[in-house]
Amino acid sequence: MHSLPPPHPDAILHSQRLTTTIITAIEQAGGIIPFDEFMQRALYTPGLGYYSAGMQKFGTAGDFVTAPEITPLFAQCIARQCQQVLTNFESGVILEFGAGSGIMAVDILKTLEELDCLPAHYFILEVSSDLQQQQKAMFQAQAPQFLPLVEWLSRLPTEPLQGVILANEVMDSIPVQRFTVQADDIAESYITYKDNSFHWQEQVTPNEILQQAVTDLELPVGYVSEINLALPAWIQSIADILETGMVLLIDYGFPSKEFYHPQRNQGTLMCHYRHHSHIDPLILVGLQDITAHINFTAVAEATVNTNLHVAGYTTQANFLLACGLADILFSLNPDDKQKYLKQAQQVKTLILPSEMGELFKVMGLTKNLDIPLLGFSKDERTRL
Ligand SMILES: C[S@@+](CC[C@H](N)C(=O)[O-])C[C@H]1O[C@@H](n2cnc3c(N)ncnc32)[C@H](O)[C@@H]1O
Repeated sequence: MHSLPPPHPDAILHSQRLTTTIITAIEQAGGIIPFDEFMQRALYTPGLGYYSAGMQKFGTAGDFVTAPEITPLFAQCIARQCQQVLTNFESGVILEFGAGSGIMAVDILKTLEELDCLPAHYFILEVSSDLQQQQKAMFQAQAPQFLPLVEWLSRLPTEPLQGVILANEVMDSIPVQRFTVQADDIAESYITYKDNSFHWQEQVTPNEILQQAVTDLELPVGYVSEINLALPAWIQSIADILETGMVLLIDYGFPSKEFYHPQRNQGTLMCHYRHHSHIDPLILVGLQDITAHINFTAVAEATVNTNLHVAGYTTQANFLLACGLADILFSLNPDDKQKYLKQAQQVKTLILPSEMGELFKVMGLTKNLDIPLLGFSKDERTRL
């Protein structure tokens, strides 16, 4: 079974409080809720969900480490891509979805200042009010001079934007539907509560959109996976708000063929708890991250009826190298050998195929902006 570190007694109490609210929702719904609703509640219940409560999530003292937490060189590369786009506007802005600890925003602004290309505004759209507070504290501590530029939002602005929209490891936190292909039907995964724990319950789905979307995938009987039915609306909302500019989506995932590969027949759900990864989202409720990989073909397809154009799709390694990662590393002072070696090691984590280099992908979408994006200039082979 699970060999995970035991939670602190306070954390157990916290998890029990969240569990009680989910049990109530299950009872009110007649005994089961769909998995996507369970994931939504586990991650985002105000004050209690994993992303909505005040526990340390990012970095070595938390549950997982994201690229901007590993090294500022990641954000420096993203900033160079932003610079190329921002120079097309007199007062372009950046909007970052789900800014986590806030460190990427700080490092991007530091780099853009050095490049003399600060945006007119840096919006952070963060659904978690607790994370908004943590991000403000990060700016206070690390770069208070940028605070006048930064504006926190809980939903997309109503005014159209010109500039850049960023989302690093955000799509993987959007709740997904889980399904099983049956001989004559598509079963959806529901969650029920009995004998003091949450359990899966597969049931033929009444959701016709899910039924059709999974049928179209032509998967074999018994195949279990996920699909993100919220993605098209999310992409549409971005298309609606971006007047001119670029969207940069960075996340772990694959094109559809690999996502629904015959051997990946148990899906991609993954949970992160104190640097342990496992596949059971029904435990440690509110104390662990729950994620699903991204089907980048589905992201591209979601742009079809929008004015967004897929301007590039490549691996994280290709993207960062095209943005000058190697040059940035070589420009660092090698005299402090220990520091330099540490930075070189961090760069390896970002680009090695066995680490983040190939599993993580970058997709660039543009609207009314016809320029060859810097980060995709080295790509010769990544296909959707
Ligand atoms: C895995 S964390 C990544 C954080 C950060 N981008 C990083 O790379 O360290 C996911 C973040 O996305 C946020 N999030 C999830 N869904 C969102 C949405 N629909 N809009 C804005 N933020 C969202 C979460 O609150 C959290 O800050």
